[in-house]
Formats: sequence, structure tokens, C-alpha cells
Amino acid sequence: MGEETNMILHEIVKRRSGRAFSQKPISDEMLGSILQAGRRAPSCANTQAWNFIVLKSPDVLEKAHEALSRGNAWGKRAPIMVIVAAKENAGCGAHGLPYFMMDIGLATENILLQSVHLGLMAHPTAGWDEERLKEITGIPEEYRIGTVIFIGYEDDLDKLDERTKEKEKMGFSRKPLSEIVHLDKW
Ligand SMILES: Cc1cc2nc3c(=O)[nH]c(=O)nc-3n(C[C@H](O)[C@H](O)[C@H](O)COP(=O)(O)O)c2cc1C
Repeated sequence: MGEETNMILHEIVKRRSGRAFSQKPISDEMLGSILQAGRRAPSCANTQAWNFIVLKSPDVLEKAHEALSRGNAWGKRAPIMVIVAAKENAGCGAHGLPYFMMDIGLATENILLQSVHLGLMAHPTAGWDEERLKEITGIPEEYRIGTVIFIGYEDDLDKLDERTKEKEKMGFSRKPLSEIVHLDKW
């Protein structure tokens, strides 16, 4: 089966969840194309359950930073936070599965790949206080936050504290295809 070198998009290979963000702002044009990429994602029966709450004003970001977990303090340097939220019943109803999370996930990957395409870094997270983030941003009670994506230019690793720097050095590993692919039968 296909090697990574044959990957159709180099963005797929280049993407990684980095933490050393520069505070350099992102142009509105770039941000617009990132959000367009998100909205292009497929969704079951075209439900498009996703909502993108974009935080970029310094005072709003500062408030939102209070909701981050300690382990995600690196996110405070990123100039953009995109909260991806959906109503739990807004996805398609097939199989009784929570398809709103599928919509969120697919839109998120598009956002990550378009960010990489523009030379940016984008990091999805789950480490934050959902209620606090909803309070700060006014997201209605019936919506769930699926992820918060930090987006920005990459900076030197030296800007990170030692613990976060160590996490960066760990890199990533993936299960081999032999463990996860079931050809013709399980
Ligand atoms: C739903 C989701 C939640 C995540 N939450 C966090 C998080 O809270 N903090 C963090 O540092 N990374 C988080 N990550 C990033 C993962 O740790 C990362 O994707 C994984 O280790 C693989 O590394 P890579 O993205 O660099 O390939 C999250 C990723 C996903 C998809």
C-alpha cells in the first residue's frame, strides 16, 4: 500500500500539532481562506453542524486563556483561537451516532490542512473548560464545543518552557497499517 512519500497532499505529511506559536498576527485574507476550507468539509446529509467561533481580539483572547488547561498554556501565544461548536442533535441521525462530532472533525482537519498550506501551524485541542469558554464567548448552552484550534506562525522552540519543549521533541508515532487495516475481512 501507498508509502507516505506518495501522499496526495504534502500538507497531510507536513501537518503536526506544534506548540511554539509566534504572536505575529495572521491576515484576514488567510483567516478567511482557513474558514472557507472548514466550511467545504463533507457532512452527513449536508447537515453542516459546525460553527466556527473565531477569537482574535487581544482582550477576548486574554479572557479565553483563563479557560485553558495548565498543559495547554502554550496556546496563549497563538494569535487566533477557533472554537468549533455544534448542537448535539444538529448532525445526521444515522445509526444513532453523534454525527455532529464527525462534522466537527472533518471541518477541523480541513482547517488544519489549509493552515499548513499557508505556512501556518494549527493545533486542535481538548484541554479547556467548556462551560467557562461558553460563558466568555456567549456560545448558547445547547451547543457543545468539540475542539479549540490554535492557529499562528511557528516560532523558535526556545520560546517554550522546558516541559513543553520536551513534549515537542517527542514527535509523533502512528500505529502501523498492519495493526489497523483489515483487508477483505476483520
Ligand atoms: C480531539 C483532539 C484533542 C487534542 N487535544 C490536545 C490538547 O488538549 N493538548 C495538546 O497539546 N494536544 C492536543 N491534541 C493534539 C494531539 O496530541 C496530536 O494530534 C497527536 O499527538 C498526534 O500528533 P500530531 O498532530 O503532531 O501528528 C489533540 C488532538 C485532537 C485531534
